[in-house]
Amino acid sequence: MSIESLARPEIVAMKPYSSARKEAPGRGVLLNANESPWSLLGEDELNRYPEPQPGELVARLAKLYDVPEPRLLVTRGSDEGIDLLTRVFCRAGQDAILHCPPTFGMYRIAAQTQGADIVSVPRDAQTGFRLDTDGVVRAIGSDPRIKLVFLTSPNNPTGDVIDSSSLARILEATAGRALLIVDEAYAEYCEQPSAAGLIDQREHLVVLRTLSKAWAGAGLRCGTVLAQEPVIDLLRRIIAPYPLASPVTSLANRMLEGEIMQRQQEMLRAVRRNKRRLLEMLQDRPFVSEIWPGEANFVLLKATQPGEMLSFCASRGVILRGYPNDPSLSGCIRISVGSDDDLTALEAALDAWEAQS
Ligand SMILES: Cc1ncc(COP(=O)(O)O)c(C=O)c1O
Repeated sequence: MSIESLARPEIVAMKPYSSARKEAPGRGVLLNANESPWSLLGEDELNRYPEPQPGELVARLAKLYDVPEPRLLVTRGSDEGIDLLTRVFCRAGQDAILHCPPTFGMYRIAAQTQGADIVSVPRDAQTGFRLDTDGVVRAIGSDPRIKLVFLTSPNNPTGDVIDSSSLARILEATAGRALLIVDEAYAEYCEQPSAAGLIDQREHLVVLRTLSKAWAGAGLRCGTVLAQEPVIDLLRRIIAPYPLASPVTSLANRMLEGEIMQRQQEMLRAVRRNKRRLLEMLQDRPFVSEIWPGEANFVLLKATQPGEMLSFCASRGVILRGYPNDPSLSGCIRISVGSDDDLTALEAALDAWEAQS
């Protein structure tokens, strides 16, 4: 079965929009895009539309993620990648996505926005929130509506990674039936090799990467979809004509230059060091009944009075993430690994909470 046959037929049949910059990417007297010939700020050629897929950034990201350039699409964060995939592959009222909650919430939002159904194969706190690989394989085999399977490694908010045998089983189960999307937003923090190495052999595998987390670029909104050309070509059909603003592209290019890349490695070491400190400061707290350290830049814990603890910390200016509306994360709080100063402020708040509770 071809990738096109999994996509919405109307997207496959659609004649894509052809932007001015795409039709005539070269330089010259540019009178083809109704732009202003003058720039008010005089920098970054803001009067001109940007390249639809900026060549220098594409080349840098292809090198970073070790894939050929045609197998890569740069997007406004991974959020846009998730949205594009759902819009291309799920017909409203007919198709479904599969996800494994508790997990990142945007898979559900993208599906609901598109009118696709959501098949959930939950992770159970009793089993340490482990992925239910048998359940995922069973669901894929029994429900032909499932067109996208979202796995997250490391998972947010539980921090666990997908082991290679589970990945292999789910890749096999999805072949010819659905796309398997491995969201690696936190991959740089863990030892597990990227699933991108398998893209060569698997036309239905998609990997999502982002500069938001380990590249300290959440404000840039720059993500990357990695997949074989048929998937990328389908996403290109519906992506906005100019997804990346010129200043974003300039900043992302600067971030991926040699010297900053070295600083990024130092930053990853600092995250590892501070995570150890965070785990130490959580240990033996009477109000913490369980800790899931995970393999990302956050820690999940179970607290005895989560709502009160969150409000107490917030009143001292320390903002943590709670899940009051998610029964599968009842009592849980997620804490991101912050700077040294952030952790000192957190420790003071936890000490004060312990003293008064
Ligand atoms: C698992 C996961 N995927 C994707 C994202 C969104 O990434 P981006 O900032 O690139 O849109 C997040 C953000 O928290 C996330 O946790």
